[in-house]
Amino acid sequence: MLAIDSLDVFHGRLQVLWDLSLRVESGEIVTVIGPNGAGKTTLVETVMGLNRPARGSVRFQGEEIGGLRPNAVVSRGISIVAEKRELFPRMTVRENLALGAYSRDAPPDFAAIFDLFPVLAERQGQLAGTMSGGEQQMLAIARALAASPRLLILDEPSLGLSPLFVANVLESIAALNRGGLTILLLEQNVLSALEVSDRAYVLENGRVALEGPSEDLLNDPMVQASYLGV
Ligand SMILES: Nc1ncnc2c1ncn2[C@@H]1O[C@H](COP(=O)(O)OP(=O)(O)OP(=O)(O)O)[C@@H](O)[C@H]1O
Ligand SMILES: [Mg+2]
Repeated sequence: MLAIDSLDVFHGRLQVLWDLSLRVESGEIVTVIGPNGAGKTTLVETVMGLNRPARGSVRFQGEEIGGLRPNAVVSRGISIVAEKRELFPRMTVRENLALGAYSRDAPPDFAAIFDLFPVLAERQGQLAGTMSGGEQQMLAIARALAASPRLLILDEPSLGLSPLFVANVLESIAALNRGGLTILLLEQNVLSALEVSDRAYVLENGRVALEGPSEDLLNDPMVQASYLGV
């Protein structure tokens, strides 16, 4: 579904991604794990058309999308839950969801969204900025879903959440995947991310250091020593 090949990306003169290749097949949950500054957000922003690759290609469902504008990428079927969530804090839950469906020219499927996140149904009229961190993360995911994506990309969805909310968010991600949605997850919460995903890539200093089935990475001595504190 998503095929990234030999990607080089710069921020000004600083090269951040180096010869990066990655695949996400339809129906998978794929995780990219990597420490602060590894280049996770830069990768997401490149897929979404916010960074222009210096070299390499980004193909979605067989078509090149590198260099498309973000709204065109969303229209093709990729939605993102950004690292900073980027909700509209002074708008209500319902208004945030409606804006998430903007690219579709159709109202969001509120029933399906509220089915997945019942708390949002109760909070429809509440201003997004007044909700807890965990509720805001659910709203950010729900807003991304309102665009009816084929591929959902989540940039550190567990960031800043209590352990209970981390478990909730990851369970929601697994449920979405069981419902047929393909998912690319970028995380520093390595154990939870590997447990929920099919395959994973370890990103270090902008390069893929290791890749394989998540189960294999969970048992990999380097991953255990560097990321799992074993
Ligand atoms: N807009 C920018 N201008 C210049 N350098 C940047 C910019 N954005 C990121 N960088 C640099 O690029 C590198 C990768 O940053 P990036 O945000 O992609 O990493 P990350 O893996 O998402 O990190 P984090 O876990 O902290 O979110 C870092 O060295 C960072 O300082
Ligand atoms: Mg980041």
